[in-house]
Amino acid sequence: MPRILPSLILLGTLTLACQRDWDALETRIHTHHTTPNRHAKRAPVAYPPTLSDVESILVNSFDNKSISDWSYYYTHGDHLGSHNKSMAEWTAQKWRDAGFDAYLEEFPIWYTYPQHSSLSLIWPNGSRHDANLVEDVLKEDDTSSYPNLIPAYHAMSASGNVTAEYVYVGRGTRADFEVLKDAGIELKGKIALANYGGIYRGTKVKNAQDNGMVGCVLYTDPLDDGEITEANGYEAYPNGPARNPSSIQRGSVRFSSLYSGDPTTVGWASSKDSPRGDVAPYNPSIPSIPLSMKDALPLLRTLSGHGVTAKEANRSGWVGGFKNITYDSGPAPGAVINIDHLMNGTIAPVWDVIGVINGTNEDEVVVVGNHRDAWVIGGAADPNSGSAIMVEMANAFGKLLEKGWKPKRTIIFGSWDAEEFGLQGSTEWVETHLPWLQSHAVAYLNIDVGVSGPRTSFSGSGEIQSFVIDQLKKVLFPEGHWGSEFKTLYDMWFNVTKGTVSPLGSGSDYASFYQNGIACIDFGSDGGKRDPIYHYHSNYDSYNWMSKFGDPGFKLHTAMGQALSLILYHIADDALIPWDLPHAAEVLSSYLEELNETISSSSTLPPSNSSGNATLDLTPLSSALESFSAKASHLASVANTALTFNDSIALAVVNSKFRDFARGLASVGGLPGRETFKNVVSAPGIDNGYGADVWPGITDSVNQGDVAQAKEWIEKSAKAVQRAGEILGYGER
Ligand SMILES: *[C@@H]1O[C@H](CO)[C@@H](O)[C@H](O)[C@H]1NC(C)=O
Ligand SMILES: *[C@@H]1O[C@H](CO)[C@@H](O)[C@H](O)[C@H]1NC(C)=O
Ligand SMILES: *[C@@H]1O[C@H](CO)[C@@H](O)[C@H](O)[C@H]1NC(C)=O
Ligand SMILES: *[C@@H]1O[C@H](CO)[C@@H](O)[C@H](O)[C@H]1NC(C)=O
Ligand SMILES: *[C@@H]1O[C@H](CO)[C@@H](O)[C@H](O)[C@H]1NC(C)=O
Ligand SMILES: *[C@@H]1O[C@H](CO)[C@@H](O)[C@H](O)[C@H]1NC(C)=O
Ligand SMILES: *[C@@H]1O[C@H](CO)[C@@H](O)[C@H](O)[C@H]1NC(C)=O
Ligand SMILES: *[C@@H]1O[C@H](CO)[C@@H](O)[C@H](O)[C@H]1NC(C)=O
Ligand SMILES: *[C@@H]1O[C@H](CO)[C@@H](O)[C@H](O)[C@H]1NC(C)=O
Ligand SMILES: *[C@@H]1O[C@H](CO)[C@@H](O)[C@H](O)[C@H]1NC(C)=O
Ligand SMILES: *[C@@H]1O[C@H](CO)[C@@H](O)[C@H](O)[C@H]1NC(C)=O
Ligand SMILES: *[C@@H]1O[C@H](CO)[C@@H](O)[C@H](O)[C@H]1NC(C)=O
Ligand SMILES: [Zn+2]
Repeated sequence: MPRILPSLILLGTLTLACQRDWDALETRIHTHHTTPNRHAKRAPVAYPPTLSDVESILVNSFDNKSISDWSYYYTHGDHLGSHNKSMAEWTAQKWRDAGFDAYLEEFPIWYTYPQHSSLSLIWPNGSRHDANLVEDVLKEDDTSSYPNLIPAYHAMSASGNVTAEYVYVGRGTRADFEVLKDAGIELKGKIALANYGGIYRGTKVKNAQDNGMVGCVLYTDPLDDGEITEANGYEAYPNGPARNPSSIQRGSVRFSSLYSGDPTTVGWASSKDSPRGDVAPYNPSIPSIPLSMKDALPLLRTLSGHGVTAKEANRSGWVGGFKNITYDSGPAPGAVINIDHLMNGTIAPVWDVIGVINGTNEDEVVVVGNHRDAWVIGGAADPNSGSAIMVEMANAFGKLLEKGWKPKRTIIFGSWDAEEFGLQGSTEWVETHLPWLQSHAVAYLNIDVGVSGPRTSFSGSGEIQSFVIDQLKKVLFPEGHWGSEFKTLYDMWFNVTKGTVSPLGSGSDYASFYQNGIACIDFGSDGGKRDPIYHYHSNYDSYNWMSKFGDPGFKLHTAMGQALSLILYHIADDALIPWDLPHAAEVLSSYLEELNETISSSSTLPPSNSSGNATLDLTPLSSALESFSAKASHLASVANTALTFNDSIALAVVNSKFRDFARGLASVGGLPGRETFKNVVSAPGIDNGYGADVWPGITDSVNQGDVAQAKEWIEKSAKAVQRAGEILGYGER
């Protein structure tokens, strides 16, 4: 990652949320200040906020006791993707009880479940250490002892029974592997041991595979835990906020920057009769297994004194948080790991729940969604903090419906299944309804980990940002141990982000919507370096943890739900869709500057002939952006006038342009080598997997050193911006 500054390495890694990339946010906050960001200055906030009558009904409808009840329900049963239809039916019934239609949509999707898996370290003297692939049972945490616990595994991992010496590869980035190769460490035929920090887990497995390695072990290092470690004197869960040493991070290792959804139907909807392709290009070919920090210790200790030292490797995130471990690479001669892993690949039904509140104008639709499936019996943060919020939000809108309210635009609630395997539920739904969504969708609002800590942030499209930030100003931040200086959710958000909003990558259910040119946000709250450790994708992401450490009193859930309700309400019911088009243009321009930095610091492009630095002519894109910006400003003033005079015909025209323009940004052919990613503005970084690359068609080409393709994508991206601008243009549609 050439764009990460050394200062960020010092900041360390923040706790990872459901596939949200704090490193990328920090990078963005600290490196891209070239464009003045209109949200980077703390805005004045009226305190206490004044709300309209409808806003008050929505906000006051939220009750922490009810949210806690919904959370309790969702976190006390196996609800791995495809495992729990009755939970889908319960959700649909809750929404019906709130006063609107709800039904299930079923999709048969491919996924993997382990039939057998084990991991052992075998020393040269024949002694062995067998790792525990499930967490310890805790008497304080009821769901840690459920009989049907889900074993810790990597979805989409290959099967295999491999025994080999192993090498510690730091975070497992491409650069980490380069360092080892340069030092003459043999990688071929060995097993990789990587810590979980930084990039997406599947990318680590892919890098190991690409280096000829035969297996991969990913373990949780205390480095990920900031200050809240046992070494710093904090007690571990369940007695304190530090990580329980037996906690294991499950997760998918699919190649997430190449596709979303069912890997047997990439690019089309899964149905009973749909053709199905080969999953091989999309998933690892070597077995991989996750490991707790407790079980990683003997593996790390055995490597001490062998191979490249941590100092010689000199890589960020290489030295972890164990003070008594040297983090030498190994291999230790004769010390081998056996991974014995038999995965069952199955096609099974999954169930999305769809709720509908018809609007007076059914041609404009707002979708709000959250996944329901969890890696563990609990899932109190991921994703069921969002699910509990969605039920309470349905009830809040029910209060408006009771009073005879009907939104101007149709609202769709989505409860997606099988997100954790690879966004299956949402992707197959989008692919099934794509033509309709393309002509109707105004926006998709995603909440996944609604709450795993107090730090609020969101990623999203440019046009929607200013409006979302304004809603945060209307919600009180809960009093409590988070600090009295945060009076509104905006204050917390500003403190976390310094006014920065990241572009969308991948990692949650917004991906298919966004990649088809629909305005999106991804909204949530996570923990920072001084907050209780959230046991991501572990059995301890439980109701007990949430109610004692994550959000005692469910006050953060309440605040997040209130904010999401206001966001949804205004997009669905304002006379003018509340987009800030001039800001959208500024955001696109700031991404152009970011691209320009990527190009000038590129080590992959051949140097330009005169300067010695790489150059590419970005004029086609900057010209397209100038024209887009002019049209955006013009339409914004037309919109204001239409609103001032309450001119319903003009408003209808403006709204349809606001709804449609982003569709222009989706390139018809898709990005090179990953055709279902279509948005020319951002996509998951190929080598990162969580965080986004901007202008990805161009960035990918630059990173591959392919000048001709880069030029082609400058043209294609410019054309896309031009198309979006033409839709905004007045009278030229
Ligand atoms: C489905 O989830 C509910 C609620 O958590 C739980 O009560 C039920 O036992 C689960 N069903 C199965 C088949 O595990
Ligand atoms: C074998 O080697 C390991 C690692 O050095 C050590 O912990 C273990 O005690 C040894 N076992 C025997 C039986 O010597
Ligand atoms: C895996 O391989 C080991 C030795 O290499 C062997 O002892 C074990 O039985 C194998 N497991 C299976 C399921 O075949
Ligand atoms: C470690 O790498 C940094 C750049 O990443 C470099 O500035 C520094 O000199 C290197 N240190 C050693 C000991 O090689
Ligand atoms: C190393 O530190 C870990 C915790 O940081 C501890 O559990 C372990 O026992 C220590 N090992 C040794 C050999 O001191
Ligand atoms: C493997 O998947 C099949 C369906 O393809 C299923 O019938 C079978 O029970 C599964 N086996 C195990 C051990 O999970
Ligand atoms: C909502 O609109 C759809 C399509 O126009 C219609 O089929 C459905 O019956 C409506 N639902 C209600 C509750 O009015
Ligand atoms: C954020 O909050 C911390 C701790 O409350 C405070 O020290 C810091 O100055 C705040 N930063 C901003 C930008 O508000
Ligand atoms: C809800 O908030 C009240 C008031 O702060 C608190 O007493 C109560 O314990 C909370 N309820 C739950 C279920 O956390
Ligand atoms: C890219 O940066 C160079 C200077 O580094 C500047 O001359 C050029 O105008 C920039 N191009 C764009 C499109 O921002
Ligand atoms: C350098 O010059 C050659 C020949 O004029 C041209 O083909 C090539 O594209 C130039 N390189 C760059 C990076 O502009
Ligand atoms: C090449 O780029 C580097 C870093 O952006 C800059 O410091 C240097 O001045 C550039 N060299 C030339 C000849 O433009
Ligand atoms: Zn999630």
